[in-house]
Amino acid sequence: MTTRTLPAAAYEKLTASVARDTGDRRGAALWIHAAGLVRHAQEHGLLPDSSPAPGADGLRKSLEILASCHPALAALTDPRVLPVWSQMLGETAWESINTFWERHPTLEDEHRIDGYALGDTYQLLSDDARKGRALCQTPPWIARLLLRLSLEPAMDEWGPTSTRMIDPACGTGHIVMAAFHMARVPPIHGRGSAPAAHGRQALERALAAVTGIDLDPYAAALTAYRLLASCATILRTPLERLPSSWPVNVAAADSLLARDEPLLAAGTYHACVANPPYITPKDPVVRDRVRAAYPQVASGKYSLALPFTALMLDHLAVPGGFVAQLTSNSFMKREFGRRYVTEFLPRFDARWIIDTSGAYIPGHGTPTCILVHRARPPVGDTVTVIRGNRGEPHVPEDPARGLVWRAIEDAVDSRLAWDRFQAGADLARRDGDPTH
Ligand SMILES: C[S@@+](CC[C@H](N)C(=O)[O-])C[C@H]1O[C@@H](n2cnc3c(N)ncnc32)[C@H](O)[C@@H]1O
Repeated sequence: MTTRTLPAAAYEKLTASVARDTGDRRGAALWIHAAGLVRHAQEHGLLPDSSPAPGADGLRKSLEILASCHPALAALTDPRVLPVWSQMLGETAWESINTFWERHPTLEDEHRIDGYALGDTYQLLSDDARKGRALCQTPPWIARLLLRLSLEPAMDEWGPTSTRMIDPACGTGHIVMAAFHMARVPPIHGRGSAPAAHGRQALERALAAVTGIDLDPYAAALTAYRLLASCATILRTPLERLPSSWPVNVAAADSLLARDEPLLAAGTYHACVANPPYITPKDPVVRDRVRAAYPQVASGKYSLALPFTALMLDHLAVPGGFVAQLTSNSFMKREFGRRYVTEFLPRFDARWIIDTSGAYIPGHGTPTCILVHRARPPVGDTVTVIRGNRGEPHVPEDPARGLVWRAIEDAVDSRLAWDRFQAGADLARRDGDPTH
């Protein structure tokens, strides 16, 4: 991974200095990030050539232009989402933001232009998102594995053009972006999969296939921007030339409670993939509302990850749909997980249980596991379990190449290869059997 992310201290120093002007850290983080977002669009040729005047007014003008490129970007001009519309910013604070982004111009190198670093930068800047809503980016290598165990077999089963996926806690969109690319160029081994169509049609189809929802409206807007920016970059065109009718299925909503959000309609998705928040809601009113909506899993000092599992398995997935999540393993050890383990999960077809607690996942201090289920009663008597024996001997330089993570990927690869071999052998046997 070659993004040029700076040390966390650099973002902290800038946020603290801008907050002296705005009076709040949330506002400061959003001013800084919005300026980075606009620069990202300018540096990648996604905005029209005429560059707006510099300064806070120039930033507002550029945000207006961005928002006018597609209805999914309208939130960028909403003062409830971005305080730049309701707050003044002193010249010194603006200069420090400007100098910061000038020193770190591209935000990511030429090989990564899908806004990946924008997502990470938001996490580093906004302690409101990090501490208040448990925003913690899902690294791309984890997203890829989750999708190989869910979206990929779903596309095999339902066909790449009919399959729909959702991440109901999409943050700044790392999983949604990885799913978008997988839907754009479906894996070639898929049974009955059509060859990938390239160009505009494939992009429109891939956009239609993926959905992201997040409680944080700025994170949701960033996910929408990243999807559109990827399309524009692939087509080598400014954002304004993309058809405004292209579907960008991203919304800001409380996925657990907003039952009137059309993107949360029951029985819609063939793959639900998430790295849900693991925290317990701090607001007692929200805590009780979630408890009332998910009585089967939300008991005691529950972690939000449990109602998210119920949302995906009981509500969002089509019958038989795949549900994959990177989640905290606290439910295995704490009292609140008892009913989840003994009553809720056994109702579903468990496919994979992977202990990732020994893997080094940056930013995820909590021990984790990967769970993959199908939204149907258990079938057969096999659940593939990858047990962890040891943790990383030291923090790996490249976490995607860490010893534990590579061992997990190798184990998944050999199991999937065996499953494919078995399926092929069964087919050949049936084809040669005249009674079939
Ligand atoms: C661990 S992060 C997911 C990160 C995401 N996969 C990414 O890579 O950007 C959890 C996310 O859940 C969101 N969240 C928390 N409660 C939520 C709710 N009730 N509905 C929707 N999203 C929620 C947070 O805002 C946060 O972005």
